[in-house]
Amino acid sequence: MAVIAGNWKMHHGPRATRDFFSSLVLPPNAGAHELLIFPTALSLAAAVDAPGRDPRVQLGVQNIHWEDKGAFTGEVSAAMAREAGAAFALVGHSERRHLFGETDKDVSRKIAAARRHGLVPVVCVGETLEERRGGRVEEVILGQLDAALPALTDVEGRFLLAYEPVWAIGTGETATPDDAAAAQGTLRARLDEALGPSRSTRVPILYGGSVKPDNARDLLAAPDVDGVLVGGASLDAGSFAALVEAAG
Ligand code: PGA
Repeated sequence: MAVIAGNWKMHHGPRATRDFFSSLVLPPNAGAHELLIFPTALSLAAAVDAPGRDPRVQLGVQNIHWEDKGAFTGEVSAAMAREAGAAFALVGHSERRHLFGETDKDVSRKIAAARRHGLVPVVCVGETLEERRGGRVEEVILGQLDAALPALTDVEGRFLLAYEPVWAIGTGETATPDDAAAAQGTLRARLDEALGPSRSTRVPILYGGSVKPDNARDLLAAPDVDGVLVGGASLDAGSFAALVEAAG
């Protein structure tokens, strides 16, 4: 079983969202995998109500605030996302960390908020090009994971991790399956230590960064790559279906 997740970022308003779900034809192997789409919060309702939407595609939000309500102009709470039909929440995506200044502390608070309201957090970690060139991949991704672990482990409940090297996101430059396996093996080892192997194996670790239908198969075959988190190539229904097909 692989997780095939589409992060739409700031693409697809309600109309394009309805069109996507109405035209999506999943391949025969779809039932063997977990399929997720993260539309913009504004398009979540359109996704929920899209005529003909295949219910095997579950929905999530790309970001939540850590408070349940209040004077936080422009923000969306986990409770609202849940009520509107989200089951998952991306937390700590590199665009949130690097473009919007989200810190490890914010990430922890958002994980806790997701948990309080029954959203499954998909926690993203990843190094920049400079950090990779400086030989700091392990230090950076373990630092981000360690900061999130208390919030992830203090209550029972499911979560997913995503390894997304910042230099591979939206650049067309993909980590090789070996790069992904090395980083994800590091994350898996830390999860084994923190949770014990039997609980750790229930946490899928996704790879993200310029995944396309034609490289998904090799990435998904790499050790410790349990799924993919896909931006650009998830926007088109045919391309999303092809990603699912590539999962075999
Ligand atoms: P990309 O984005 O597939 O367009 O590189 C991946 C992501 O940021 O989740």
